[in-house]
Amino acid sequence: MAKYIKEILISKEQIHDMVKRIGLQISKDYEGKEILMVCVLRGAFIFMADLVREITIPVQVDFMSVSSYGNGTSTSGVVRILRDLDSDITGKYVIIIEDIIDSGLTLNHLKALLATRNPASIAICTAFDKPDRRKVDVHVDYIGCKIPDEFIVGYGLDFDGNYRHLADVSILGDDGGDNL
Ligand code: IMP
Ligand code: MG
Repeated sequence: MAKYIKEILISKEQIHDMVKRIGLQISKDYEGKEILMVCVLRGAFIFMADLVREITIPVQVDFMSVSSYGNGTSTSGVVRILRDLDSDITGKYVIIIEDIIDSGLTLNHLKALLATRNPASIAICTAFDKPDRRKVDVHVDYIGCKIPDEFIVGYGLDFDGNYRHLADVSILGDDGGDNL
């Protein structure tokens, strides 16, 4: 194991099973409808790419990039749009695809923002969830895996821009930032 990794928390095989399960569920829940999956960049790019390939109904994709105003370590939940959607979501069945939900502040704000554009519905789908860290109540429709309050990297998730490419999800070691 690489020295910057403390422990593998979720293996790529487990991730594959979890993505399959969610893809099947979404395909069932939205049968007869056309969905638009909104990938929240950058963390969700790998999850989104895997997930669309498990969807068996018509699906469109779009991308959004947001940043939360905050003091570095804590988010205020006020979201600034860095890159907006290309599509008009009016009347569409939107599913927001996130990498991980922590405080829930970012997603709460993002959902409220997209709701003002009159979609047919908005659902939230996240690869990972840290329920212990929640500061606001946010309804999450699809959850890949609940995790304990640990900082994880891999499968799109980063620490300071690194480790997104790792296929497994791991807990970063204490010296993770120094041992690339
Ligand atoms: P929140 O739910 O508004 O607190 O923000 C969630 C965002 O924080 C995610 O989209 C990630 O970008 C980041 N984040 C939270 N926990 C982790 C983690 O364990 N590893 C990597 N990024 C994280
Ligand atoms: Mg993110």
